[in-house]
Amino acid sequence: MDLQLFLSSLLLPLLYFLFRSIFHRRHHHHHLPPSPPFRLPIIGHMHLLGPILHQSLHNLSLRYGPLFSLHFGSVPCVVASSSVFAKQLLQTNELSFNCRIETTAVKRLTYGASLAFAPYGAYWKFIKKLSMNELLGSRSINNFQHLRARETLHFLRLLANKGKACEAVNITEELLKLTNNVISRMMLGEAEEARDVVRGVTQIFGEFNVSDFIWLFKKLDLQGFEKRIEDLFQRFDTLVERIISKREEIRKNKRVKNGEIKDFLDVLLDCVEDESLEIKINRIHIKALIMDFFTAGTDTTAISTEWALVELLKHPMLLQKAREEINNVVGNTRLVEESDCPNLPYLQAIIKETFRLHPPVPLVSRRCVEDCKIENYVIPNGTLLFVNVWSIGRNPKYWENPLEFRPERFLKNGECDNMDVRGQQFQLLPFGTGRRMCPGVSLAIQEVPALLGTVIQCFDFHVVDHKVIDVSERPGLTAPRAHDLVCVPVQRSICPQLNVLAS
Ligand code: HEM
Repeated sequence: MDLQLFLSSLLLPLLYFLFRSIFHRRHHHHHLPPSPPFRLPIIGHMHLLGPILHQSLHNLSLRYGPLFSLHFGSVPCVVASSSVFAKQLLQTNELSFNCRIETTAVKRLTYGASLAFAPYGAYWKFIKKLSMNELLGSRSINNFQHLRARETLHFLRLLANKGKACEAVNITEELLKLTNNVISRMMLGEAEEARDVVRGVTQIFGEFNVSDFIWLFKKLDLQGFEKRIEDLFQRFDTLVERIISKREEIRKNKRVKNGEIKDFLDVLLDCVEDESLEIKINRIHIKALIMDFFTAGTDTTAISTEWALVELLKHPMLLQKAREEINNVVGNTRLVEESDCPNLPYLQAIIKETFRLHPPVPLVSRRCVEDCKIENYVIPNGTLLFVNVWSIGRNPKYWENPLEFRPERFLKNGECDNMDVRGQQFQLLPFGTGRRMCPGVSLAIQEVPALLGTVIQCFDFHVVDHKVIDVSERPGLTAPRAHDLVCVPVQRSICPQLNVLAS
């Protein structure tokens, strides 16, 4: 083939795609919110996105406004970055946005049966109710309080021992172990080492698999995702099979006594045996739910505690103020407990400020399930929705000096103000809102302040390399810090329990 012919055979399809996309945008999508120009053939606007999605979308919102649209490959997306649009989309039009995106990784790793990714319907309703009644409701949270206190003590002991030996500790890793153990003991009655696989899963859920968005690459696995997904799936499945089989063996030989507290796994296995339930539960569902709670409850809780601690290490005056409050309310003869937290408004304000500036889930992601009119725009069925909670938390329209970490903004006359984090105030949505809001919110807002409270009550931290307390982020479904927090814990002499801890 001569060169000219060869080039024109390449050029023609490219021109076709270019014209088609321009034409398409002008004439068919004129109801979509404003969109950045340069939607390229095949990849759409993906060339405008950097590795940290919420930051890229935030930067685009500064140019294209609080509601804009773009294309990930061929998939239309809408991004909301104001509390007004967050409310319109997630509350006023809740039913149009009650499902989530289903990527290849999500489908495989959640067994197509999880709570977090199940379509809104009978199964989702049944499981959400069961989870709230048996694992994440106030009764269960209180029943399992001693488990969390024990795990916290274990964590503090480790810090105390490392401190005595003047050794550095990777706090990031240890917090993850702790939150993994807590959720594992609450669900399964034992501490299972699931955190590596769980980290892998949350990471892959947050990455872009081009095969999910670019129809041309649907069958090609250019980034090697399938192998990683399969590897994670096999590791998790082996782990969870072992746990379930062990429990089935125990159940064969033991009858649960009246009044004995069951863990979530027992409740789920009871459901499998119960023929009368309107929704049939099988082993696959159990595995999916275990995966769900591990992935949703481990990273998020650990990351929020770490961000709060890092901000306090960067702001010693605030740390001092938090300690004074603890000393006044709890004293120095015992550790902070979960039940103390309502009486520690400054500590609560620190946690709220952390959720504002560093929301562990920076984007609330949903999928549109029916055409939906928002102002003069029509958002078509199948569009992905991202509510950029991270961006809203940094908007000077809602927050004075938004980049400043200032817990005082959540205090009124020294008491907690009435700004809550349970999805009622749309400028602060760390747990999302509405029916699909996080069911772990009560657990998290009980666990995180108490954990942070004990850590700052007992330790100072010697930071060897200041990089470990910078505020840069790394990509993922959650917003982890770029650098692990590695430092030497220094026991504080005022806490008499420290000697007990270190022994
Ligand atoms: C600081 C801790 C946490 C944060 C910031 C957080 C945040 C979130 C957010 C933003 C959502 C999406 C909500 C929406 O679409 O409106 C979510 C969903 C979810 N979270 Fe959490 N979460 C945390 C802890 C937990 C814990 C401890 C658990 C359970 C053990 C949990 C389980 C779930 C589940 C199952 C969903 C999906 C709910 C559904 O789709 O119906 N989360 N979380």
